[in-house]
Amino acid sequence: MRLIQITDTHLSRGKPHFADNWAPLARWIGEQRPDLVIHTGDVTVDGAGVEDDLAYAAGLLRDLGVRWLAVPGNHDVGDAGHPRQPVDAARLARWHAHLGPDRWIEDLAGAKGWRLIGLDAMLLGSGLAEEAAQEAWLDAAMAEAQGRPVAWFLHRPLYLDSPEEADTGYWSVQPRPRARLMALVRRHRVGLVASGHLHKASQTVGHGTRFVWAPASSFLVGAMQPAMPGEKRLGAVLYEFDEAGVSAEIAEVPGLSQHWLDDVIAEVYPRPSAGSR
Ligand SMILES: [Fe+2]
Ligand SMILES: [Fe+2]
Repeated sequence: MRLIQITDTHLSRGKPHFADNWAPLARWIGEQRPDLVIHTGDVTVDGAGVEDDLAYAAGLLRDLGVRWLAVPGNHDVGDAGHPRQPVDAARLARWHAHLGPDRWIEDLAGAKGWRLIGLDAMLLGSGLAEEAAQEAWLDAAMAEAQGRPVAWFLHRPLYLDSPEEADTGYWSVQPRPRARLMALVRRHRVGLVASGHLHKASQTVGHGTRFVWAPASSFLVGAMQPAMPGEKRLGAVLYEFDEAGVSAEIAEVPGLSQHWLDDVIAEVYPRPSAGSR
C-alpha cells in the first residue's frame, strides 16, 4: 500500500505567494500513483480567518483525482490559547464543511493491516470539550486496534529533541498532552508518528517508533525559526505499508520553488497593529 504524506501547502486564493508549488506537487503525486494521500495540515494560508482559503484548498485536493484525508494545522482551525485565532467550535465546523473530519481512522486491508489514525493536534491543551472527546476516542481507537500495527498522523510534532523536554511553545505539543500521548505510543508500540508544521524534514526511530517530520511544499523558515533538529528542505514523504512494517522516504518533488517565509511574512502573516486584536 503506497501512501504519500504532504503537508503545509499554505494555499489561498487571496494570497497566492506559494501557489506556484501546487502544480508540481500535484503532478508528482499523479506520477507516483499512491493509494492514498494524507495532508497533515496548514492546508491553507489562513483558513482560521478566511473561509474561502478552506474552500479553495479543498477544491485543489479534490482535483488531485486521488483519495485523500487531512488533519488540520494551526493556520486552518486556529490554535489552543491563541490570542486572536483560538481553535473553537465555529472554526472546526468550517473545517468539517470543507475538508471533512478533523480526526479519523483508516484501516488498511487484512486483519493485520495497519490502522492509520488522524489526530487534531490543535485541540491539545485547548481545554475544549472536543479535546476530552478526542482523548476518549483515541483511547478506544487504540484499544480496538487488536493486533493491527498503528500509525498516527498529526500536524504538530510531539517533541523536538526529546519526549521529556520542557514546553517549546509554538513548535511542538505541550508537555502535559505530550506525556499522555507518549504513554500511548509506548504502551501500544505505535509504529509511526508522522507530523508537519516545522517546515523541516527528519526521520528518527526510538523505542521501536518511527518519527517522521514531513517537509512542507510551500516555504522554508529562515532566521525566524530557532535551532532544532531537521533539514530545511521542501518535498513530501512516500510510504510503503505492508504487514512486515512501514518504510518512509523523504522525497524530492521536482519543480518546487524555494520560498522563504521571512521574505514575505509582512504580507502573508502581518502582525496586528498595536491596540487592535
Ligand atoms: Fe506550516
Ligand atoms: Fe503549522
